[in-house]
Amino acid sequence: MSRIVYVNGDFVPEEEARISVFDRGFLMSDGIYEVTSVLGGKLVDFPGHAARLERSLNEIAMPMPMEAEALLDLHRDLVARNGIEDGLVYLQVTRGNPQDRDFAFPPEGTPQSVVLFTQSKPGLADGAAARDGISVISVPDIRWGRRDIKTVQLLAPSMAKMAAKAAGADDAWMVEDGAVTEGSSNNAYIVKDGRIVTRQLGSEILAGITRAAVLRFAREAQMTVEERAFTIEEAQEADEAFITSATSFVTPVVQVDGATVGSGQPGPVARRLREIYLEESRKAAL
Ligand code: PDD
Repeated sequence: MSRIVYVNGDFVPEEEARISVFDRGFLMSDGIYEVTSVLGGKLVDFPGHAARLERSLNEIAMPMPMEAEALLDLHRDLVARNGIEDGLVYLQVTRGNPQDRDFAFPPEGTPQSVVLFTQSKPGLADGAAARDGISVISVPDIRWGRRDIKTVQLLAPSMAKMAAKAAGADDAWMVEDGAVTEGSSNNAYIVKDGRIVTRQLGSEILAGITRAAVLRFAREAQMTVEERAFTIEEAQEADEAFITSATSFVTPVVQVDGATVGSGQPGPVARRLREIYLEESRKAAL
């Protein structure tokens, strides 16, 4: 069945959705995106995603296309129109269509392009990855220097994902100057002697909305959190490892570059954090 998508003010069947070939998102990757998960028909962590959207847009000199409240209504509307129970909403805002290709930003007042679509993922919260854990390989982090901005330039992470697939692994952790930055589309963590270690925020990584919630829940549960860079060797010798994102929630990592992490099974810290995150997220979903 065809989806109903949102394009610049209209709800249309996906086959009828149109964006110009001159759109800055298409030609220059000049756009920002957000992915918000949907559980039980409700949006998870929406205020966090809306706040990060505004920050990302601001960092590349673009305004919010609408107030956060209107954006929430739009997300809810699209979820309802497509009957999404479990899945996600993808949102993209670009600098619009300047009618030609030019490196300079289009003149002020050029309308932005705003696109939203849904992806239905029945059973999103109970996949095999959460039950069995995933394997990751390390790849060099070849992305640009402002990874804190959630832009649509996703070629490097796509290549990282393909390198993982080619190696028979599930995902890739990117490494810069000897330390893990983050996963191809998630934040990376290890657990050693009861301490949860994840890279500190900065321009090298995206400030995950799931990361913020999970670290808050971990601290509330009296777990120790260390925000610092760690190496692949440390991950291989850790008791546990895991990733977080809007689409994976908290997912255990049981193998790093071929080495088994801990027991090779999802560990108690990752399992507990996933449980708490899902429970609290469902309660607070909008
Ligand atoms: N990716 N780091 C990177 C590079 C990401 O692309 C993502 C999210 C995260 C986790 O952020 P959050 O917890 O807010 O989802 C970290 C989304 C899910 C995607 O690109 O599909």
